[in-house]
Amino acid sequence: MEIIENSKLTVVGAGSVGSSVAYAALIRGSARHVALYDIATEKVEAEVLDLAHGTQFTGTSDIVGGSDISVVAGSHVVVITAGAKQRPGQSRIELAAVNAGIIRSMMPQLLEVAPHAIYVIVTNPCDVLTVIAQQETGLPPERIFASGTVLDTSRLRWKLGQRAGVSTASVHAHIVGEHGDTEFPLWSRATIGTVPILEWEAPGHPPISREELDEIAVDVRDAAYTVIQGKGATNYAIGLSSARIVEAILGDEHAVMPVSTVLRDFHGVDGVALSVPSIVSAQGAVPIRNTTFSDEELALLRRSADALADAAASLS
Ligand SMILES: NC(=O)c1ccc[n+]([C@@H]2O[C@H](COP(=O)([O-])OP(=O)(O)OC[C@H]3O[C@@H](n4cnc5c(N)ncnc54)[C@H](O)[C@@H]3O)[C@@H](O)[C@H]2O)c1
Repeated sequence: MEIIENSKLTVVGAGSVGSSVAYAALIRGSARHVALYDIATEKVEAEVLDLAHGTQFTGTSDIVGGSDISVVAGSHVVVITAGAKQRPGQSRIELAAVNAGIIRSMMPQLLEVAPHAIYVIVTNPCDVLTVIAQQETGLPPERIFASGTVLDTSRLRWKLGQRAGVSTASVHAHIVGEHGDTEFPLWSRATIGTVPILEWEAPGHPPISREELDEIAVDVRDAAYTVIQGKGATNYAIGLSSARIVEAILGDEHAVMPVSTVLRDFHGVDGVALSVPSIVSAQGAVPIRNTTFSDEELALLRRSADALADAAASLS
């Protein structure tokens, strides 16, 4: 595959998340053309106008959009953010039934106008919806995957960077599993620079104990609840995370990211979508099969898979 020239990204859903994905993509120049589609005509047209009014100050990317599905035509990547969002205190799994209905009815329409696109699902519960969307479309798993724990991983790296006294980009750690309550960090492989995380210390930054790491993981897991409690939605960080995934696809980057694909016999996990480190390129996302897990992490991966299988079963 090659870098995609004159690329087109469509963001489906012009709510808090979709508008932020489009905004981040415009500012970062993630795609040459950005389109925004939503069934709420007035809302989507207003968001497109507001975004277009700022393009004097961005790069060469342009923005169009509306409530006619033809705006999606010709997309290389479609990021799906349409659907109900979590209310304060509500888990992502509790959104499943209503958003599953939206995905089931929307995917065939999208595929008709953008048959060659790679689909990235952001709507929650994104892992469960990825399985439904993959079954609904029959697309190969690499072409339809969820943003998964890319956002959670960014939250983790930010917190660890603050604690360790280094930049976020110098923290090498991943959250994997469900994008939700059973997610967990791969502590056995986490490093700061090249130093294993439990061995890190720097002036003013004493060693981090396993207990403290576990508290950080809980904070990261519950971060969305905290943000939603305070402002009603999470949008900026997911906007940036999604734009970054789009860049890895359109730039054929082969970037390693913890996105969520429907797994086939991955360390014994089969038929559910879970985030594991994957290679993201113009072909889509391919899990890295020889990612190693400690025994404890493997048990957590299977617990996450079981939780998602239960959630999927409750919808069928
Ligand atoms: N995966 C993640 O990391 C992550 C992070 C944040 C939010 N989310 C999820 O993203 C979703 C959107 O959140 P939000 O805050 O933007 O919600 P929102 O209510 O602000 O926006 C949702 C938009 O979807 C549109 N919509 C509904 N049905 C549609 C359809 N059939 N076709 C096109 N558009 C349709 C609505 O008109 C609305 O504008 C939620 O499910 C939320 O939980 C995921």
